[in-house]
Amino acid sequence: MPVELEHRYAPAGMTTGDAEKVAFVLQHRLAALIDLSLTLKHVHWNVVGPGFIAMHELMDEQVDVVRGFVDEIAERISTLGGVAAGLPGLVVQRRGSDDYALGRAPVPAHLGALDKVYERVGKGHREAIGDVDEIDPISGDLLITQASRLELHHWLIRSHLSDTSGRLVTESATDEMDAAIAAAYALQPEVEETVEIGDLNRPGSG
Ligand SMILES: [Fe+2]
Repeated sequence: MPVELEHRYAPAGMTTGDAEKVAFVLQHRLAALIDLSLTLKHVHWNVVGPGFIAMHELMDEQVDVVRGFVDEIAERISTLGGVAAGLPGLVVQRRGSDDYALGRAPVPAHLGALDKVYERVGKGHREAIGDVDEIDPISGDLLITQASRLELHHWLIRSHLSDTSGRLVTESATDEMDAAIAAAYALQPEVEETVEIGDLNRPGSG
């Protein structure tokens, strides 16, 4: 039986219809953040090679923050009178992306792919701010605070991918795998001979 997501009440001063509209936007941000937290943990487990420990630890710092965001968004949805859709099937329906493209892979490849992951999640948060801000500035404020921290996380990833002129080695990459390959070749050219980039979507791998 499908999970009931209909609203029966709203915060004081807000109509149920408006609360439902805002919660609809937040459900998609909830799914995107749950996906992000799982992706960062996946990188924590599957990154290999030089720079391993720094990346392994950075991922856990970011996971802790993103898990906090998941809880904030879920509780905001409940406050709005909704049902926070955190079950795996609902997350897959709403997250707006496929599974992360890499499996076991070197540090530069994961950094390149994560540049694209944060690009997508950050853009989604900014769009959500525009969607809810007028109807519910309280939810807008929550998203603004989170977006600011997500952009900081993105900068921590991008700082590894930038040359001294400020250009990103991933600038012309269109997806996670493209960005992983561009970053691996730029930052660790010997990677081709030593470590294969693990593509979870390639038959026979993962
Ligand atoms: Fe761990």
